[in-house]
Amino acid sequence: MTRTISVGLGERAYDVVIGHGLIAEAGGRIAPLVKGTRLAVVTDTTVFGHHGDALLDSLGGAGLKIGCIELPPGEETKNFQMLEALSDMLLMQELDRGDLIVAFGGGVVGDLAGFAAAIYKRGIDFVQIPTTLLAQVDSSVGGKTAIDTPRGKNLIGAFHQPRLVLADLDALATLPPRERRAGYAEVIKYGLLGDFAFFEWLEAHGPEVIDGDAEALSHAVARSVEMKAEIVAEDEREAGRRALLNLGHTFGHALEAEVGFGEALLHGEAVAVGSAQAFRFSAAQGLLSSQDALRAERAIAAAGLPVRLADVAGGPFAADRLIAHMAQDKKAEGGRLTLVLARGLGDAFVAKDVDAGRLRDFLISEGATP
Ligand code: NAD
Ligand code: GLY
Repeated sequence: MTRTISVGLGERAYDVVIGHGLIAEAGGRIAPLVKGTRLAVVTDTTVFGHHGDALLDSLGGAGLKIGCIELPPGEETKNFQMLEALSDMLLMQELDRGDLIVAFGGGVVGDLAGFAAAIYKRGIDFVQIPTTLLAQVDSSVGGKTAIDTPRGKNLIGAFHQPRLVLADLDALATLPPRERRAGYAEVIKYGLLGDFAFFEWLEAHGPEVIDGDAEALSHAVARSVEMKAEIVAEDEREAGRRALLNLGHTFGHALEAEVGFGEALLHGEAVAVGSAQAFRFSAAQGLLSSQDALRAERAIAAAGLPVRLADVAGGPFAADRLIAHMAQDKKAEGGRLTLVLARGLGDAFVAKDVDAGRLRDFLISEGATP
């Protein structure tokens, strides 16, 4: 079954189509969006190796001139040098403003190609074909595009909404189990932040989602996208409620920054530890019961994801260093610590002016060094 969820952004509204066999249908679905004659597929070598032929066959049938740009896989690709190289390759392909970029891959390809689309000749349309669970439930929807710099992740970027998102669940069949689990951390995030019934459903059906059961996967992706679409439509530029989507991210980013962004700790794994920490810190502040915090932690751990500082290689971590990273977070205003905390399962809120002393005590109680 194919499900279509609309992201209601007025003249920039677009559909997220979720289902099976969508890569094979991409040509027919994308061609009507191309005002010009050319289309550039941006992908990584791993994704292209698995699914490139199927996509190019489908696009080839649509009568467009297609160029394909394959980048190295991994977070290191999301940098200024690669942005420059990609922009140059797009210029060499003589794409003009009526043409279109297809971002075909995980969040790395989506963020980089989306940012290139935002700035190429002052903006060109793009379509997302996300191929990781994380990208299908989160990064391909909502228009955040960015690259990393040595000073931090996603610090240079733009809001640039895609024209269409095609989430082909079949693409996930080739995804390594570790990457599936990392993507699942973003799925459970939606239940934890705003939908207790979805959280309960995931407690029961999480293993089926991770194992790739077609019905469970379809429901999990669709419910996640539905929640993201609703939040983005209300708060596209993160003036308020969209910040809830960063549940677990401030704690998680601090750990990523400490161990180095990349294979050592995948983004989704960092979000998993961070979400469990956000719930435990909320309990420590008397905002919710410790039973609820433990329930959140167990649901995340049941997916084989890390939930404690001790689960992350590279420790022990110094509390002050973690807090220094947290103060650099994009949500922080004027150096004040801002965290997404919870009053219950499915009831998160943005806490501004978090007390650094209390946070420090909490991190030390979690095993960080004073
Ligand atoms: P990724 O793009 O690096 O993909 C993970 C790995 O899986 C890569 O090695 C890739 O080659 C491989 N892969 C992708 N699809 C595959 C498939 N179908 N079969 C086999 N292998 C496949 O990582 P990701 O987890 O998708 O995305 C992480 C990035 O997303 C981070 O840079 C993060 O900052 C960003 N992100 C952005 C947003 C946003 O709103 N823009 C939200 C969340 C995360
Ligand atoms: N991944 C967080 C956001 O899109 O806002």
